[in-house]
Amino acid sequence: MAAVLDLYDPETYVAGTPLAEFARLRREDPVHWQPTPGGDGYWMVLRHADVVRVSRDPETWSSARGFVVIEPLTEAQLGMMRFTLLGMDPPEHAKYRRMLLHSFTPRMIAALEPRIRAIARGIMARAAERRDVDFVEDVAADLPVQVIGELLGVPPEDRPKLRAWAAQLTGAQDPELNPGGDAAAPEASIEMAMYAMGLAASRRGKTGADLTSVAVNAEVDGRAMTDAEYGSFFVQLATAGNDTTRNLLSSGLRILLEQPHALALLRGDPARIPSAIEEMLRFEGPLHYFRRTATRDAELGGARIREGQRVALVYTSANRDEAVFTEPDRFDVARDPNPHLSFGIGEHFCLGAALARLEGRVFFEELLAAFARIEPAGEPRRLRSNLNNALKSLPVRLHAA
Ligand code: HEM
Repeated sequence: MAAVLDLYDPETYVAGTPLAEFARLRREDPVHWQPTPGGDGYWMVLRHADVVRVSRDPETWSSARGFVVIEPLTEAQLGMMRFTLLGMDPPEHAKYRRMLLHSFTPRMIAALEPRIRAIARGIMARAAERRDVDFVEDVAADLPVQVIGELLGVPPEDRPKLRAWAAQLTGAQDPELNPGGDAAAPEASIEMAMYAMGLAASRRGKTGADLTSVAVNAEVDGRAMTDAEYGSFFVQLATAGNDTTRNLLSSGLRILLEQPHALALLRGDPARIPSAIEEMLRFEGPLHYFRRTATRDAELGGARIREGQRVALVYTSANRDEAVFTEPDRFDVARDPNPHLSFGIGEHFCLGAALARLEGRVFFEELLAAFARIEPAGEPRRLRSNLNNALKSLPVRLHAA
């Protein structure tokens, strides 16, 4: 069944997530064949239950074979992705994930709160001086990069570079952010990997709590990661933890500006912020999809999928599935339960979910405490991307409390 819109074309998403089309497809064609310009195509999995089923069965649906984005990667790029958690399958995946788990325990994450709050207060103080800001660049972007920089042991003076590389990767499909087109984005990941290799070399053999020290000094199957392997590992951690969180913070404010009632509820009772963060994640999930590749012929939601075919798990559709969420198009800060899939589910469930939630809570607590009134001051602009559900800019005027 043909879609009314081209759901592969990044241009489609500039006008916003095609929610009406997703809803129609969930009813009529829930595992939908989407052609791509090269003549081939891929399956889009639009229902919540099917996204869960695929995510929980990595034997049939591989992350390693072809990685997790729809675009075909070169052998060299795939080689790099082999050392990212995102791009591993069992049994390797579990071994590497276990190595990092100690750094992401609830206790370790909770211990970061004072530091995250101090960074957030600094950001709000600088924003208060400017009053008229682009909320994406001037407010939301800094917290995630500072936090991931601390975690990875990147010194403060190098963090602007990290931010620029990550932005180039996320903006790969947007000519305004990536004027060089397809060829330019891999360069950012190579520069970032080279940087990480230097960092790895400096931490080898030393004790330290930062993730770089943990990762390069750990052994998996009796072997430590090489600097080059760590390079790819780092790129994934640094990008996964960065733009997604920025997008949560900026889309989150945009929703609140459009829903003054929700904003008033949070101002009246900041204890509601954690559940509001979950609803922001559901309503505007920072990632439209991640991909899997079928390792064998399989049946899914009535579709016959052949071995080797690509499958996109469309989180931004699953999050509006009326079979799971009552009134899915209503933003409800108190929604409970809220089994959204913005962090994925199963083996690859986002390692940084607790950290992202903490950043979100502290950020909105500090934002609402610092500013008594926040007004839209221009049209928000969306990123051109079929992968990242992101705002490029959100002009606002801030009135200090
Ligand atoms: C709102 C912010 C975030 C969102 C929406 C998000 C989303 C996701 C999703 C959907 C996955 C699952 C991938 C899959 O099933 O293929 C994932 C995995 C991952 N995320 Fe996040 N993420 C966020 C923040 C973070 C942060 C702050 C970190 C910090 C380090 C992080 C690190 C990772 C890692 C390492 C993985 C791979 C886990 C694995 O494959 O085992 N993420 N994330």
